[in-house]
Amino acid sequence: MACDPRVTLGPLVLRNPVLTASGTFGYGLEFEPYFDVASLGGICTKGLSLLPRVGNPPPRLCETASGMLNAIGLANVGVDAFCADKLPHLRARGITVIANLFATSVEDFAALARRLESEEGIAALEVNISCPNVDKGGIAFGVDPVMAATVTAAVKKASRRPVWIKLSPEAGRIAEIACACEEAGADALCAINTIRGLAVDPETWEPRLANRTGGLSGPAIKPIALRMVWEVARAVKIPVVGIGGIASADDAIEFLLVGASAVQVGSASFRDPCAPREVLEGMLRYGERRGMNLRDLVGKARL
Ligand SMILES: Cc1cc2nc3c(=O)[nH]c(=O)nc-3n(C[C@H](O)[C@H](O)[C@H](O)COP(=O)(O)O)c2cc1C
Repeated sequence: MACDPRVTLGPLVLRNPVLTASGTFGYGLEFEPYFDVASLGGICTKGLSLLPRVGNPPPRLCETASGMLNAIGLANVGVDAFCADKLPHLRARGITVIANLFATSVEDFAALARRLESEEGIAALEVNISCPNVDKGGIAFGVDPVMAATVTAAVKKASRRPVWIKLSPEAGRIAEIACACEEAGADALCAINTIRGLAVDPETWEPRLANRTGGLSGPAIKPIALRMVWEVARAVKIPVVGIGGIASADDAIEFLLVGASAVQVGSASFRDPCAPREVLEGMLRYGERRGMNLRDLVGKARL
């Protein structure tokens, strides 16, 4: 049987369950020389803010065992430049775009959502309430259920688009935050963002990142991400998008089995720019081999 790769995420149907994770795939266009980005379920843009941001000083990335630390600090071109210079090309290529939003206040999150209302070619908003690498905003919203719900409700009110909330692994009880966002109207939840870590150079005694701490990503965080996706998926009725260390089709299938309806490939694209396509192709082969649609795997782990 041919595998039907389509997945439904609340009001949105994606052509397949493989997306790229915010901040690891630029604005999508950078990867066009490597493969047909429109063949993916979608791309999550680098976090967009109302004004352009230069981010943190370098060094901003360092490799660790089975992963990497980053402290980019949400460097981005700003929402206006994104709409003027990137979005028309993404639209012309038929790429499904999820706009990832970052702000330091509830009002600014709502203003970002409103700014995008008049733009065509955005399938959903992914609200980052979980960035560990900025002084203001970010993670502060993601570790408090009342704040998380307030941001969710404000963005929902400001936009006609589906609203996905990206959860922080640093919330003590991630399921509690997930439920608060669901109640406030979120259409889907994405889990997880990076986990704060630290690395020091033993020769210079200096931190390896100028920001000192950074967010850990890659295969090192996959078991934590799987446990959190499982906890969130059991707690809510809305779909969950699984993120964290996905580098192969088997990794992605693990996430579906514990309850994710779709996945995002992040740091793996640094090692191999074709990683998202390879994950997708492997998943399709898995579905065909088993005579199953990928959506029928969701939550089927014997847990
Ligand atoms: C260099 C880098 C930049 C990132 N920037 C963002 C961002 O702007 N917004 C966001 O929501 N997540 C951002 N993330 C987090 C990723 O989207 C993802 O949640 C995390 O890296 C875990 O997935 P992975 O292990 O597959 O990389 C970033 C991650 C990395 C490595």
